[in-house]
Amino acid sequence: MQQHKKITIAIDGFSSCGKSTLAKALAFELGYVFVDTGAMYRAVTLFCFRNGWVNKESVNQQAIIDHLNQIDIHFERNKDTSKLEIFLNNEVVEREIRTLEISSLVSKVASIKEVRQKLVIEQQKMGEKGGVVMDGRDIGSVVFPNAELKLFVTASPEVRTDRRFKELLVTEPGITREEIKQNLEERDHLDSTREESPLIQTEDAVVLDNSDINQQEQLELALELVRERMNG
Ligand code: DC
Repeated sequence: MQQHKKITIAIDGFSSCGKSTLAKALAFELGYVFVDTGAMYRAVTLFCFRNGWVNKESVNQQAIIDHLNQIDIHFERNKDTSKLEIFLNNEVVEREIRTLEISSLVSKVASIKEVRQKLVIEQQKMGEKGGVVMDGRDIGSVVFPNAELKLFVTASPEVRTDRRFKELLVTEPGITREEIKQNLEERDHLDSTREESPLIQTEDAVVLDNSDINQQEQLELALELVRERMNG
């Protein structure tokens, strides 16, 4: 695609609705930077979990806030696989952050104001030059309220559960569909009702429901919108 100007693309939506898949494909197609902000919240959660500040029963908010300056998160492309990987204090944690255990704790950590402030600043830096596709829950509302294109991605709860189930079965063979369904419901609820920058659909966002379309069809729809915004 011939590029006119480097725009900012904000992708928000509920858990496991294919935001990152779309964001990654768009970034590849456009030669843009891709940022998975959910991975950043997951990496902070992993750090807190390893230190015993968050578990199923409780969350020690003060300890988390006090140690935020010890957390360094960045993305690097793996030279062998060409895949982007997330680093937590110089350790690749791509696999560790995707377990159901971390998924069940991340919304608690992501609701802490100071955690969000730290990550939002880093996300804004990553996208300050434009030419970025960023996905999360508050990208169009808080991180880049002036993004040229905002997408709100959705899919039915059944479709989302199935997709996540297939994904996790590879690494966690004992997992049940019911556990996944519950985790998605809980996170949707916590993420959209929390006080600090909850997931909302901004008025200027375009809704993309991908329940009945495949990844390629979704990408084509999004690219059409990108072309409009580039020319607009
Ligand atoms: O996109 P994901 O499922 O990997 O995100 C993990 C969690 O992180 C999600 O349940 C809510 C939180 N999150 C957030 O609060 N704000 C973001 N911008 C991205 C993710």
